Amino acid sequence: MKIYVSRDSAAKAVGAERVVAALRAGLAEAGIEAEIIRTGSRGMVWLEPLVEIDRGQGRMAYGPVTPADVAGLLEGSVASLGLTEEIPFFARQTRLTFARCGVTDPLSLSDYEAHGGLVGLRRALAMSAEEIVAEVTASGLRGRGGAGFPTGIKWNTVRQAPGPQKYIVCNADEGDSGTFADRMIMEGDPFTLIEGMVIAGLGVGADRGYVYLRSEYPDAIAVMREAVVLARGAGLLGADVLGSGRSFDMEIRSGAGAYVCGEETSLLNSLEGKRGVVRAKPPLPALEGFLGRPTVVNNVISLATVPVIFERGAAFYADFGLGRSKGTIPVQIAGNVARGGLFETAFGMPLGELVDEVAGGTASGRPVKAVQIGGPLGAYFGREKFDTPFGYEDFDGQGGLIGHAGMVVFDDSADMLKMARFAMEFCAVESCGKCTPCRIGAVRGVETIDRIARGDAAAVEVLTDLCEVMKEGSLCALGGFTPYPVMSALRGFPEDFASVREAAE
Ligand code: NAI
Ligand code: SF4
Repeated sequence: MKIYVSRDSAAKAVGAERVVAALRAGLAEAGIEAEIIRTGSRGMVWLEPLVEIDRGQGRMAYGPVTPADVAGLLEGSVASLGLTEEIPFFARQTRLTFARCGVTDPLSLSDYEAHGGLVGLRRALAMSAEEIVAEVTASGLRGRGGAGFPTGIKWNTVRQAPGPQKYIVCNADEGDSGTFADRMIMEGDPFTLIEGMVIAGLGVGADRGYVYLRSEYPDAIAVMREAVVLARGAGLLGADVLGSGRSFDMEIRSGAGAYVCGEETSLLNSLEGKRGVVRAKPPLPALEGFLGRPTVVNNVISLATVPVIFERGAAFYADFGLGRSKGTIPVQIAGNVARGGLFETAFGMPLGELVDEVAGGTASGRPVKAVQIGGPLGAYFGREKFDTPFGYEDFDGQGGLIGHAGMVVFDDSADMLKMARFAMEFCAVESCGKCTPCRIGAVRGVETIDRIARGDAAAVEVLTDLCEVMKEGSLCALGGFTPYPVMSALRGFPEDFASVREAAE
């Protein structure tokens, strides 16, 4: 008998370690021979702690499990949820980037290879740098950190940039509220990120990489550090990558908790040991990045998707999706939902299907009022926009952004004026202070929304003007995107700004 329990921090947070301890004690007491395997998360967070038991007929799922359930679980008297792969939330996904996550032991390289790992790197090692970049370009992969910039074009800029030293920097400073895809893949399948970074290095001519990982993710830091040591020991990293004579090594650096350090130039400053303030662009990091050298700065999911592209081919990957949004996107479902978790799907699924069917509506049972997509800087979408397909251009056309694909659901008790205020407050707290529209604008924004709350109708125009200035005049996305949640709340939910309407009438 094999028993699988996630070691992901979301599972641990709801008691996975206590369940494992109870399982060990229960097995010893009953004299049952069984192997307990710690995996990453399957992404069905509402079922955690999820226990999967394989008695020879596949992995049967049980969850959420408490230590009190363990005796019944081992006796076989607890009803299972069926095969994990057949749970509807799981079965309707297209798992490419997350194919191994929750299936394998994250720190077993042999498990990794047994499930398709390193096939992509071996293929890349036989290709020229130009061919590697062309493959990524043909796959249609775009930056999964949020901006959706074509990864192949970015790599090509770095490949063609002159210079004796180039770098690969992985942005793992996942700071958006409601997002956890980066954390989940780093804890659940760290070698896929390492493999993606090595391929990136081969493609652009970089032999050194860094993962800038937020300090709030201690489990991910520990897993990644251990995985790097194992990869080095197995010859996947170092002076002779898989016996190819090519060199690539990397290290894990921990951030210090500033949201703005997720912005790439601020991240590079922090990585260099400087204060995390935004640098003006140009120069682009692709030309003058880490220590002034040409640098690929890619999000975790962008890099972790590279191995499957090389394993299955660019055409296979590009076949999924919608228009210019090719491949799959790991949607992170959070907030007031019946079923929260990570749902990897080809681009194109309508927002309403994700909210009503996949997430099962609200946990409170009340009607869904709004969904914020793309983190604290994302727009609020009401039900009238639920037919919007999940895609970069489609969301842009509706005045929103998919960002890092975090989705936070609110029921009808949410006060959108308070949410708009929160966005401005967040910007004021997290602003790096470098430019005036953001540093001063966000503080004035909070005050102006307070005026609206007190029924001052004239303040609506001031807020609209202020948002325009922040959008057009801010140096980076923090100040520049704060108007999205603010204006979408004001325009989409005028009933919550009723005192204004009344005052105006
Ligand atoms: P951006 O549009 O300025 O740049 C996107 C990327 O393309 C950058 O890496 C940039 O250096 C690169 N680039 C642009 N032109 C290039 C060229 N010609 N050659 C090579 N590279 C080129 O967007 P930015 O400011 O980097 O990111 C904004 C996004 O970040 C927002 O959409 C937001 O959703 C997202 N975000 C994500 C967070 C997270 O936790 N993942 C947190 C906060 C924001
Ligand atoms: Fe700093 Fe805000 Fe300006 Fe970005 S927009 S550079 S966070 S002050």
